Amino acid sequence: MQHKALQGITTPAYVADIAALKRNMAVAKTVKERTGVKILLATKAFSMFSVFDVFKDTLDGTTASGLFEARMGATHFGGIGSGKEVHCYSPAYTEDELRDVLEYSDHIYFNSVSQLKRFAPMVRARHENATIALRVNPQISLVKNSSLYDPSAPSSRFGVHKEELSEDVLAQIDMLHFHNLCENMAQDSVALIKHVASEFAFAIQHVSKINLGGGHYMTHPDYDLFALCDALVAFQKEHNIAVTLEPGGTFAYEAGYLVSTVLDIVERAGGNHAILDTSASTHMPDVLEVPYRPNIIDSGEKGEKPHSYILGGKTCMTGDVIGEYSFDQKLEIGSRLIFTDMMQYSMVKNTTFNGMPLPDIGILHEDGSYELVKSFGYDDFLNRLS
Ligand SMILES: Cc1ncc(COP(=O)(O)O)c(C=O)c1O
Repeated sequence: MQHKALQGITTPAYVADIAALKRNMAVAKTVKERTGVKILLATKAFSMFSVFDVFKDTLDGTTASGLFEARMGATHFGGIGSGKEVHCYSPAYTEDELRDVLEYSDHIYFNSVSQLKRFAPMVRARHENATIALRVNPQISLVKNSSLYDPSAPSSRFGVHKEELSEDVLAQIDMLHFHNLCENMAQDSVALIKHVASEFAFAIQHVSKINLGGGHYMTHPDYDLFALCDALVAFQKEHNIAVTLEPGGTFAYEAGYLVSTVLDIVERAGGNHAILDTSASTHMPDVLEVPYRPNIIDSGEKGEKPHSYILGGKTCMTGDVIGEYSFDQKLEIGSRLIFTDMMQYSMVKNTTFNGMPLPDIGILHEDGSYELVKSFGYDDFLNRLS
């Protein structure tokens, strides 16, 4: 069992699983081969650049949420002139930020007509052949589990509405951008593609490229890859247009762990608590934000196995609880727990709240060996604060 290598490591640690990342890249390769679309990595989901080599053979580049991700993508994945693309979308740019972004990216996406009008001349002046894109809100809610993650939610600030796509606006752009999904299965990818085709045909004919966003959960076992591929092929043929996709989370899906150690057991009438050297609040914030229950290797639901525990984080926040789990053996001080699917939206979002040390970052190689990439210390906590 590959996870044996994780038993002896220093914890807490995020560990990327190279074999699993490669498995995810095989999915991206299939989509590219069947459809001819370009696929970017949305680095907001996963930015562990020490493993970007696994992605480089397959993906066409990266897409950033602003200056720092654009710079990282250009530096560690490939920038202008390297054969890789760096795209950048932000809900709003400052002039200074955009000027710096243009050092690294010549694919600039705007969120509003006002930003487009203000900044398009600056983009064209810096890069004659730049691609200027405008995000469009397709106003079709396909993310059902949480309005927090639905770009088409009624209160959404993302993207221009259909009626704003005047000829004057369309004349200023090269690309339309629709990011409207989050962990959606293929029927929703297909629904989005069909909706865009039927509602936005008038706009598509003005541009040469279209980005159909992220959230296509193509590496999930229940995702019907061929339904996506068929829809993409038909769409490109019908509209004679080049499609780009920009998923993030799905390429890191089930591709790594957060390894932690039990520090203490606290027995209470309402249930036994195991306090860990990690924390939902600081190291896996989506557990509280989404919220969701992460899987732990060899665990069960509360009461399913003989020994149940409430797993709590090492911070002062009462709600810093990961969930209730059961195990075959009693947990003890020093027991090791391995949370799975801990690469996406984890280390990119972590914090040092309470002075929590950041987890180590490591790699589980295909031969089962563990490589420590980085560990953090007091300076990483301190330097953010004054
Ligand atoms: C504009 C944009 N593109 C791509 C993504 C990546 O989405 P996912 O990680 O769900 O594939 C996001 C995520 O929020 C996004 O906002």
